[in-house]
Amino acid sequence: MGWFCLSVLLFMSAVIELSAFDTWPQNLLVATKNSEVSLECRMEQENVIWKSHRIGELIGQRIKVNDQPDTGNYSCWSQNKELLNFTYVVIDATPSEPSGIECHTNSYVNSTLHCTWNINDQLVLPALVRAKIEREGFKDYDWVYVLAKETDQMTVTFDLPNVTFCPFEDVYQTLKVTLEALDPFIYVFESKFMLFRKIVKPDHPQNVTVQKEGKDYYVTWEYPSSWTKPHSFFPLQFRVEQHNQVRSMNYRKNISMINDGETKFKVSFNHFRLSCKDLYFNSNWSDWTDWINRDGKIQIRKKKEYRSRQ
Ligand SMILES: *[C@@H]1O[C@H](CO)[C@@H](O)[C@H](O)[C@H]1NC(C)=O
Ligand SMILES: *[C@@H]1O[C@H](CO)[C@@H](O)[C@H](O)[C@H]1NC(C)=O
Ligand SMILES: *[C@@H]1O[C@H](CO)[C@@H](O)[C@H](O)[C@H]1NC(C)=O
Ligand SMILES: *[C@@H]1O[C@H](CO)[C@@H](O)[C@H](O)[C@H]1NC(C)=O
Ligand SMILES: *[C@@H]1O[C@H](CO)[C@@H](O)[C@H](O)[C@H]1NC(C)=O
Ligand SMILES: *[C@@H]1O[C@H](CO)[C@@H](O)[C@H](O)[C@H]1NC(C)=O
Ligand SMILES: *[C@@H]1O[C@H](CO)[C@@H](O)[C@H](O)[C@H]1NC(C)=O
Repeated sequence: MGWFCLSVLLFMSAVIELSAFDTWPQNLLVATKNSEVSLECRMEQENVIWKSHRIGELIGQRIKVNDQPDTGNYSCWSQNKELLNFTYVVIDATPSEPSGIECHTNSYVNSTLHCTWNINDQLVLPALVRAKIEREGFKDYDWVYVLAKETDQMTVTFDLPNVTFCPFEDVYQTLKVTLEALDPFIYVFESKFMLFRKIVKPDHPQNVTVQKEGKDYYVTWEYPSSWTKPHSFFPLQFRVEQHNQVRSMNYRKNISMINDGETKFKVSFNHFRLSCKDLYFNSNWSDWTDWINRDGKIQIRKKKEYRSRQ
């Protein structure tokens, strides 16, 4: 029994077609580019037979895949054709610059992180992507799997559920999102630390209605239904942006803050919209609602006309 060394000088463009993974493969070996990997069939058997797309068949206890580690499934078999073990070899293509994971969540309790990842451009699509949350002091989260498809325009989105966060406890602020992506040839790893208060972004206020009382117009609204309850414990701050002109680009806008938990506001302009954020913690502002007219009608968005000037 000895070592069998292979110099597999195949290039990734010249490979046999392999289809994308639909489940994460067992016995995955992530090899460094331009390095040698050694595969061993740890069995009491002598002269096992190695098989793969590349090598065909080869006899020996161990094989080394040399130079450019050759990707694919290497299985070892006994002389009487019993499957003993197998290893799937891919090349680590993790770039030094991460391509970017972004997440946000609209609530504190049992919420879901909505995340996007800019698909690494070396991946052959469709590629299998999996992500999970890690938090110190919490039980392990499960991996969430998504398929990055050619139609995804280089961004894949995924939802990571079961996240609870108490804004009054500072120690659990940090969480880490870990992501792995795999096509038949390469593997990519990425992770990102996030601070909870930076990724909280409420949904915008709901059920915005206008009432006329005498000569005055009042706008009323409700908390976004996704926001953490009870609202007395998790109050939101609201803001109302108002203006009069429709056709002019440089309307004078007027923004009023509502810090006392009220969900009613006297409007003095013709057009307005609302957004909200956590009252006590420096979370992100929600998106704005659509513009609403004083007669209660929602205005059709015309980007050119309503682009606000910051
Ligand atoms: C590798 O080959 C073994 C033996 O044929 C098979 O059981 C296993 O599912 C294969 N793995 C992958 C990821 O194709
Ligand atoms: C099969 O191979 C994997 C590595 O690909 C190794 O971790 C595992 O121990 C092997 N199993 C046996 C029974 O040798
Ligand atoms: C929240 O705001 C910070 C800057 O204040 C920004 O970097 C981050 O991308 C925002 N997050 C979301 C989910 O909008
Ligand atoms: C949390 O939400 C998920 C769905 O997003 C649900 O399946 C689960 O039961 C909820 N857990 C608790 C403790 O409310
Ligand atoms: C979320 O919790 C549910 C119910 O406990 C569980 O089935 C699911 O696997 C969890 N998801 C993650 C990503 O941990
Ligand atoms: C919005 O108003 C409708 C009808 O008045 C009501 O059925 C619904 O529950 C309200 N939504 C919320 C989030 O309260
Ligand atoms: C504009 O908003 C401020 C509060 O942010 C308010 O004091 C002021 O009266 C508003 N202007 C008009 C014309 O309503």
